[in-house]
Amino acid sequence: MRIGILTAGGDCPGLNAVIRSVVHRAISQYDDEVIGFEDGYEGLLDGRYRTLDLDAVSGILARGGTILGSSRLPRARLQEACREVRETANRFGIDVLIPIGGEGTLTAASMLAEAGMPIVGVPKTIDNDISSTDRTFGFDTAVTVATEAMDRLKTTAESHQRVMVVEVMGRHAGWIALESGMAAGAHGICLPERPFDPADLVEMVQARFARGKKFAVICVAEGAHPAEGSMDYRKGEIDQYGHERFQGIGTALARELERRLGKEARPVILGHVQRGGTPTAYDRVLATRFGWHAVEAAHRGVSGMMTSLRGTEIVMVPLAEATAELKHVPKSRMEEAESVF
Ligand code: F6P
Repeated sequence: MRIGILTAGGDCPGLNAVIRSVVHRAISQYDDEVIGFEDGYEGLLDGRYRTLDLDAVSGILARGGTILGSSRLPRARLQEACREVRETANRFGIDVLIPIGGEGTLTAASMLAEAGMPIVGVPKTIDNDISSTDRTFGFDTAVTVATEAMDRLKTTAESHQRVMVVEVMGRHAGWIALESGMAAGAHGICLPERPFDPADLVEMVQARFARGKKFAVICVAEGAHPAEGSMDYRKGEIDQYGHERFQGIGTALARELERRLGKEARPVILGHVQRGGTPTAYDRVLATRFGWHAVEAAHRGVSGMMTSLRGTEIVMVPLAEATAELKHVPKSRMEEAESVF
């Protein structure tokens, strides 16, 4: 079998672990040939690829990023490109394509599968917002990085009696903010799923100071926004990829709190540091399992499906179902987090 693999969309710790796992399973178990397209669907369209043998994937398990490179194609371009992708894949004799990507990549994969191309998807995103899987690899790494950052910020906040507003990634869903905020014991967590009122945060900080606690850490997802009319904040513009370009809610909120509280507040934007570097052991294991199961599924003739973690098992789920809507933080999880503020 000739397997084509590509990584598309924003990168994510664990991508290399999937590539390595696919190559090992495909070659060692089935004597397959694996080729890796460079820079996501762009490389596939341009016919840029390299052969992936065991040597090519040696030593990459713990490496962040992706050895294949990645790119984002605007959604409209992806839809147009479906036929071209199929034709190029046929030209290269690809029996099955394994795209590793987030919602945009998997939506394109689902369209390709519907158009008759054999596809087995592997979900990735640090945001953990892909439906039909309990977790995506990269999320644990992002949460670990954000947690460590907040642990560190607490000591400097306390020394200066400041409020730290820590902005973490999470455009549409607040999973990173929820879990890193809980793990670090943040005193407030703001998620895209529920508009926040700065007045509540002011009250929380004042109550802490009244109890003799002289600092506060607030964890805010980049996609969080204030309740209508509660604070001046302009929503971002939508870029060519269909994503909102945020206006820096962390900075806006820190300024607002400083003004209302008369205490020093500092914004800390963690940004892409959450996505870079070596994956945690958990993410390496999940990524390796996804790669293994993707190859197995391809050999069973499965198509139009992606790997998914359900409880402790890896199962295959339809791409169409997984990409129908994003997975948001449910109210019950927010309540659990609030109970420990
Ligand atoms: O990978 C998803 C994500 O981490 C979002 O949370 C964030 O908004 C986005 O990527 C930023 O990615 P980029 O700056 O690479 O477009």
